[in-house]
Amino acid sequence: MEDLLIKLKNDLDKANSLLDLEKIRVSYLGKKSFIAQQMKLLSSLENDKKAELGKTLNIAKKNMLLLIEDKTAQIDAVQSYEPIDISRPGKALYESTKVGHMHPNNIVLKETYRVFTELGFAIVDSPEIETDWYNFEALNMPEVHPAREMQDTFYIKGTDQKLLPRTHTSGMQVRFMENNKPPFKIIVPGKVFRNENEDATHAWVFNQIEGLVVGEGVSVTDMKGTLLQIVKKQLGPETEIRFRASYFPYTEPSVEVDAKFNGKWLELGGAGMIHPNVLVNGGIDPEKYSGFAFGWGAERLAVIKYGINDLRQLWRPKFEYLEQF
Ligand code: PHE
Repeated sequence: MEDLLIKLKNDLDKANSLLDLEKIRVSYLGKKSFIAQQMKLLSSLENDKKAELGKTLNIAKKNMLLLIEDKTAQIDAVQSYEPIDISRPGKALYESTKVGHMHPNNIVLKETYRVFTELGFAIVDSPEIETDWYNFEALNMPEVHPAREMQDTFYIKGTDQKLLPRTHTSGMQVRFMENNKPPFKIIVPGKVFRNENEDATHAWVFNQIEGLVVGEGVSVTDMKGTLLQIVKKQLGPETEIRFRASYFPYTEPSVEVDAKFNGKWLELGGAGMIHPNVLVNGGIDPEKYSGFAFGWGAERLAVIKYGINDLRQLWRPKFEYLEQF
């Protein structure tokens, strides 16, 4: 019997279609097979011999069937495999839009770049991980300054330079002044990070657009006129702005800028005339030059423009929501 099983295994190895398998099954287990003939012999045997041979034959039959079934499954798997036709046309990932889609934050940022470059601003990048000096100290906020409380800060442990994920893009003010001579007009767009609880109007990460204008004789009227132009270009010609008195250690005077859009006043961010100490820290003579700076949230613009009521949505990867813009 063992020889028979070995022979069957060899035959099965050579088989490569279901038809081959059927032939093998017939020759090993069919009516004319050795097993079938032996089965027929059983009736002529004495009881104990009958039981012994019967048992052997049944075990052999069972093992043979198992081997054949195994091979059938293998051949089935190969035959039911459909090769991929790489020449078939692709299927759109999102049926509703057919083409890729920009995130609303990026739509607003792109528009911001266009509007500012039209007014002669250069776009400058700055490091997301900033030193305590540029983020705070150089901006008139020594370590003990209570204004540091205005921005809940994440600190990075274990660095001797006191590094932190920037809490605002204002860190670029002194960095840029150190390396460039006035006059200049720049914006610094980028992500900023705050260690605060999230709610509908606050996220722990958001995009800020810093503006910095330095030249001879730059005044508060320049600041108001420029900001009004920008806001009109971004939100429409009928938009108005207003200044509310505020406080930032790096500007004097300091204001909060609101925009009136669809009849409602909404806060855009802070602004002010650059504090002389900051100009000095950047190597610029405050007797000769003056300037203004501002910083507002890109998401704030998106929220105003698209009437979004919870800005956290802008930071969730939920396509159904984001695709509407
Ligand atoms: N850095 C301020 C903030 O994050 C905004 C600001 C920028 C204010 C520049 C004045 C001047 O809230």
